[in-house]
Amino acid sequence: MTAWPDPAARGGRRLEDLLARPDMCGVLMTASKDPDAKLTYITTTNTGAERVAVKIPTTSRAGLAVEREGRMLVDLRRLGLGRISSTVPRYVSSLHVQGRPVLVSSAVAGTPMSVAYHRGLHTARPGLVRADLDLALGWLRELWDVSQRGDAALTWARDTAAGLCGRWDGHPSLEAALSRLEMVEGRMSGLHCTQTAVHGDFWFGNVLVDHGTVTGVVDWEAGSTVGCPLRDLARFAISYSLYLDRHTRPGARVLGHRGLRRDGAAPGVTYALEGDGWFSGAVRSFLADGLTALRLPRSLWYDVALVGVAEVAASANDDGFGERHLELLSGLALRPRRRR
Ligand SMILES: Nc1ncnc2c1ncn2[C@@H]1O[C@H](COP(=O)(O)OP(=O)(O)O)[C@@H](O)[C@H]1O
Ligand SMILES: [Mg+2]
Repeated sequence: MTAWPDPAARGGRRLEDLLARPDMCGVLMTASKDPDAKLTYITTTNTGAERVAVKIPTTSRAGLAVEREGRMLVDLRRLGLGRISSTVPRYVSSLHVQGRPVLVSSAVAGTPMSVAYHRGLHTARPGLVRADLDLALGWLRELWDVSQRGDAALTWARDTAAGLCGRWDGHPSLEAALSRLEMVEGRMSGLHCTQTAVHGDFWFGNVLVDHGTVTGVVDWEAGSTVGCPLRDLARFAISYSLYLDRHTRPGARVLGHRGLRRDGAAPGVTYALEGDGWFSGAVRSFLADGLTALRLPRSLWYDVALVGVAEVAASANDDGFGERHLELLSGLALRPRRRR
């Protein structure tokens, strides 16, 4: 277990000193559900002072993640973020509570895309889905533009396969999952890809929107200033497909999506990658357009999705979530299905 240095010895300010100020009001936004949960609190002071987000870890590991996020926010600023500058929280300070680090960053505007996603029949409406995907890709392209570093060999599939072996050694689905990654590796071999900053958990709950624009991208704890941009592209597509059946009874048909039932490990993702309806078309275009922006062949869209699923299986904090993705990967087609 990590022993945190005594906060007083580190000269750190205490969280209590910030939150106990008489002018300090705020709302607790979320308490994440994963095993290394954090509490996120947004201040709403009425003195005109800047609103800040305060991220409070509940375990030592969550503390390490919060500390990593603070460093990432500082490193990102150094890149000069151009047009997306206002969407990335600024590091404000580090505090301490119970010996753990607490991150204070500037609050960005907007509402998480997940709020609209789960409302009404949002994901049953092609125009709304395409608009979400366009917003996400538009923001990613800006990030890629401001942070690109030059090309490197595209070893993402191989690297992810190593991560999968390390985590799921002996699991009955591992072999089938690895054989899919091997096929991908063959199709990606010899290619090079621009290196860019990577968010690392680019799912729609971490993207804040307002009036049809992206106003914030939060939660940079898994980020890196240099990495493979396909990671964020894949993560968005997979997470956006994963929850399509969230509001449907087990076994029942999902409204707005012909052929999709709430059944199996991750039916929304299988439907997105192997189906031939409008939703699959939208996800395929999203991935292919991202590949074009990175000057890679559009035909790799399916491979990018497979490695994205593998990456969740290899890196998810929650074992059950990771295993679900491993099983999903082991059941997906080896190559993209022919469309009718
Ligand atoms: N800098 C910020 N500005 C505005 N809202 C934020 C900020 N950081 C976090 N939030 C809100 O809190 C939620 C949880 O924060 P996040 O960093 O994603 O924590 P977790 O690691 O627990 O997922 C976000 O979905 C967003 O609604
Ligand atoms: Mg989050």
